Amino acid sequence: MLILGLNMFHADASAAILVDGEVKFAIAEERLNRRKHFGGFPALAVRASLDAVGAKITDVDHVAVGQDSDANLIKKVQYALSNPAKILNFIKLRQRKEAMRDVRSLLAEALDIDREQLKFQEHHLEHHIAHVASAYYCSPWEKAAGFSYDGSGDFVSTMMARCEGNDIEVLDRVFLPHSLGSFYTMICEFIGYTKYGDEGKVMGLAPYGKDAYCDEIAKIITPKNDGFQLDLGYFKPLGSNQGMQVLDDGTVKLARHSSARMEKLFGEPRKPHAEIAQRDMDLAFAMQHRFEEIFFHLLNGLHARIPQAELAMAGGCALNSVANGKIFDRTPFRQTYIQPAAGDEGLAIGAALHTYHSVLKQSRRHELKNSYLGPEFSESRIQSALQAAGLHARKLERGALLEETAEQIACGNVVGWFQGRMEWGPRALGNRSIVAHPGLPNMKDVLNARIKHREWFRPFAPSILADYQHEYFERDHPSPFMLHVYKIRPEKRKALCAVNHVDDTGRLQTVTREENPLYYDLISAFHRKTGIPVILNTSFNENEPIVCTPEEAIDCFQRTRMDVLAIGPFFVTKADGNGEMVAASSQPERGHA
Ligand SMILES: [Fe+2]
Repeated sequence: MLILGLNMFHADASAAILVDGEVKFAIAEERLNRRKHFGGFPALAVRASLDAVGAKITDVDHVAVGQDSDANLIKKVQYALSNPAKILNFIKLRQRKEAMRDVRSLLAEALDIDREQLKFQEHHLEHHIAHVASAYYCSPWEKAAGFSYDGSGDFVSTMMARCEGNDIEVLDRVFLPHSLGSFYTMICEFIGYTKYGDEGKVMGLAPYGKDAYCDEIAKIITPKNDGFQLDLGYFKPLGSNQGMQVLDDGTVKLARHSSARMEKLFGEPRKPHAEIAQRDMDLAFAMQHRFEEIFFHLLNGLHARIPQAELAMAGGCALNSVANGKIFDRTPFRQTYIQPAAGDEGLAIGAALHTYHSVLKQSRRHELKNSYLGPEFSESRIQSALQAAGLHARKLERGALLEETAEQIACGNVVGWFQGRMEWGPRALGNRSIVAHPGLPNMKDVLNARIKHREWFRPFAPSILADYQHEYFERDHPSPFMLHVYKIRPEKRKALCAVNHVDDTGRLQTVTREENPLYYDLISAFHRKTGIPVILNTSFNENEPIVCTPEEAIDCFQRTRMDVLAIGPFFVTKADGNGEMVAASSQPERGHA
């Protein structure tokens, strides 16, 4: 049985394909059309999904969409009627959504096929049920508490659910305009981070702040029963899309969220690219602090209703890895399964899995143990790409590739590591990664100056052999998808200085041999040379979506000052006549701070 899952006309459009209930392939459209967070129709992702399993759209039995414009309709109408100025907007939005519901026509057009030939059954699933489904059905559990939270989706910002067997029973929803995601976005925007998806950056800024505004910021969002409410006086009226607009060309745009009251209390909003003042850091600190307080209030309320140790979680806010790392200290939950694509691209697999298990009552379960669901490329394709780029490459056996790559990392060079299937979700987890030494004091500056050009306050992440996690980190719950931040043990902070954030934490990826043998063996080879079972891992890109194809990886290698490229079995160094090569010195390069 073939089920195609879709997230469409929403940020991070994506497609996924299930064969007999198993997710065989999944990809966000941005990786293919190279437009970050693209929110149109995922035509390329659909084609790639079908190609990956050798199917045609006419073979597909079910198409499931992680969006249902009819869900929570009464709430939407009530909201529109409460403010006559919103009614016209509401009607326009409904008309647009109706056009988008015609999945059959959209697929027929995208795949250039007669609509009448499409025999699949169509399913629309409420946004947050799809989020919960994306986590629960991929988890190993038969019973769990389900939780989803984000800015908004189908007029809801938060969902609590009981997950048992094949079923997801919704216990509670928090409706718009009340939204923990919007609270976070509003303050990010106030301190100058105005693009969709900037929230993750500001999370890295928060520990530079101090407790100056926590009491003030706490007034913006307060607990209410098992949920919470916003004080809307701090917000501009955002409409039922909560200030997020997808333009006709698929660009995702944010409207201004903050009202004049924010300005009155905290002064002028920071302009993007202006210097970051202490006030901005203190606001980031207070925002993250309050976010966590409300998050743990919600989780503790959920646990009281579902006293399980297991928590299955998704939604854009579930990418807040700092909050995730504190779940075990602040709630009774003892195990988390957080969907690697916790953001809206994950809706594609959530909707598809929900159709399989809940609608079609199929019980066979496939735990999603790794995130390598994207495309891979043959050796001959990689070789052709290298030749076309005029690069001199050596082909190495597996053992030699690992040894030489580990040696390059150990001596301070920056390596592009392109192997196997691309990751699903926003994190590079060892298949489309740039890897480097985690213990060189200047490595963060080197990476930023040469390749990444990121804000000075954003930390780089460590990948650690799972067997050594307890020696290096204060928490031992695994973090296979780089979605937990834990404290680094004091005695290990020096060894991990390039990935140790200002608050002595790291957003770690725990790596097991079972999940990714090649990457595990690379870290092991580095461990043998240096005594450190950790490498620095950042996504393979330069201000663009993570590279997908060999050509994109090679282009990134050539246009940046990366030293080495290990692509499939091929090993390319700039020292071999492929351009400039500059070993990282132990002295910091020109810093960004
Ligand atoms: Fe969402």
